[in-house]
Amino acid sequence: MARALSADELRTLYLSFFKSKGHAVISGSSLIPENDPTVLFTTAGMHPLVPYLLGEPHPAGRRLADVQKCVRTGDIEAVGDTTHLTFFEMLGNWSLGDYFKEDAIRWSYEFLTSPEWLGFDPACLSVTVFQGDAEVAPDDEAARVWKSLGIPDSRIHRLPREDNWWGPAGLTGPCGPDTEMFIDTGKPACKAGCRPGCRCGKFIEIWNDVFMQYNKKADGTYEPLRQSNVDTGMGVERTIAMLQGLPSVFETELFASLMAQIRALSNGASDKPGEGVRAARIVADHIRSSVFILGDPKGGVKPGNIGANYVLRRLIRRSVRYAKMLGIPGGYTKPLAETVIATYGHFYAELELHRDRIIGELTAEEERFERTLADGQKELTKLIQVLKEHGQTVVPGRKAFTLYDTYGFPLEFTEEWCSENGLTVDRAGFEEAFRKHQELSKQGDKSFKGGLADNTGATTNLHTATHLLHKALQMVLGSHAQQKGSNITPERLRFDFTHPDKMTPEQVAEVERIVNEQIGRDLPVTCEVMTLDQAKEQGAMALFSAKYGEQIKVFTAGDFSKEVCGGPHAARTGELGRFKIQKEESSSAGVRRIRAVLEKP
Ligand code: SER
Repeated sequence: MARALSADELRTLYLSFFKSKGHAVISGSSLIPENDPTVLFTTAGMHPLVPYLLGEPHPAGRRLADVQKCVRTGDIEAVGDTTHLTFFEMLGNWSLGDYFKEDAIRWSYEFLTSPEWLGFDPACLSVTVFQGDAEVAPDDEAARVWKSLGIPDSRIHRLPREDNWWGPAGLTGPCGPDTEMFIDTGKPACKAGCRPGCRCGKFIEIWNDVFMQYNKKADGTYEPLRQSNVDTGMGVERTIAMLQGLPSVFETELFASLMAQIRALSNGASDKPGEGVRAARIVADHIRSSVFILGDPKGGVKPGNIGANYVLRRLIRRSVRYAKMLGIPGGYTKPLAETVIATYGHFYAELELHRDRIIGELTAEEERFERTLADGQKELTKLIQVLKEHGQTVVPGRKAFTLYDTYGFPLEFTEEWCSENGLTVDRAGFEEAFRKHQELSKQGDKSFKGGLADNTGATTNLHTATHLLHKALQMVLGSHAQQKGSNITPERLRFDFTHPDKMTPEQVAEVERIVNEQIGRDLPVTCEVMTLDQAKEQGAMALFSAKYGEQIKVFTAGDFSKEVCGGPHAARTGELGRFKIQKEESSSAGVRRIRAVLEKP
């Protein structure tokens, strides 16, 4: 029988287990990364340790263990299910060039299953290992160790890179295969072939051991690292939910008071299966994350319009929106924040210390949003109605920008609202309006009357050409050539993508040739609505950092390209004209920029 441990007990037990295996216990770091401009928040225990993973000696030694606060908003749309959170605590043990696969896996197994430690029934444990691909061999060693511990082949799943690979954060750097540990909740399988990694909730991932044994080089190849490291991460909230046999992380003691408070404030609306439960979880999760961000010892993040500030603003406003859906009266952020502080204050002293800042900022942002919310909502409802009456499915980017600029609606917020009404937002148009606005504020030019040149046909065609270009770049340069940015005016497209070197004239010519070939084939461009998971399953290209609503659109150009996108697009590639690359240049380190046009056929 698994031991029904609390979060406090789990943290203590984890650290003492790894202490008994010669690890030094170090304190976790700030949620706001120190020297890493590539992430807005600490998203995993490894971020603060990057210099040591690269070989710098750590003062505490080569075996470390810690508890790290993490914020991840990449999966924000999944919050509301049984396990996803935007803030979570990660337990980690680290080998800096010391022990490797065999010990890491044995210790994971011992900690999980020994009755002295967590005492999970080994029969509930399933694992995944890297199945190998053209570049890196399968991780047979990890599979062998699991097998030697008694996990049968039927519960050792070999999965591809999307599932079982970690890093690098940028284009180059340390990375490697991982092995993930799942608890089978005992729920019936959702389909034949339901396995760890399936999102139905039968298998819950609680721990990940990463074997950082490669360095990815600029040419895309992998060389063995001189120092092989182990980086593991165990999720506190999920693990205690599994230990306590609870249906979701929201039933654990970490959320119990918060959920009870939301139930009372919403007069029970939070109990309504489906939407009510989901909304309550979102309210709780987002307030908890905001409290930790505002209470961080490093400070400096406040609700605002860029970077980490924007993430915080979005969390708070999204929470307010869902609180409203539940009928929770205004002023609710203060009592909820107080509950979070009471729940965590004994372990995270910074929350008590920064109580005034946390509550002050939360309340001020809630009030700011309140003041414009009603007007903005009216505006958006009107807009949706008008668009629907005209049979339109896409909200023009400049309208979304007005909502953002005048009413403080985060773009993703407008997108979610619209997607609930079967509409999408023209993201490229929004970005264009945003950029124009910024330029204008810089110039202080008051004469501009606003709005984009209305040349929809041209931008639509360039948009479709962008998809063809993206795919062609990956064919010519490799799968690392991924979209970093896109900007379309009626005259030209601009596309930024990851690639370390200047493209050769031959590569440019080949990309151009491929795109024109697809235009020549006059492929039909079709659109389907599905979830992001389904899209990924079908191999659609999707921006990793993009935030999409629950239902997203996938545009397919014949058998050539499949990409997640808001549209709109040409009906057939034959409408595009001749594709011509005008310029290929550097945009920033590791990112290239292409400007291209469509010439009249
Ligand atoms: N970096 C890995 C993760 O975040 C293991 O800690 O899953």
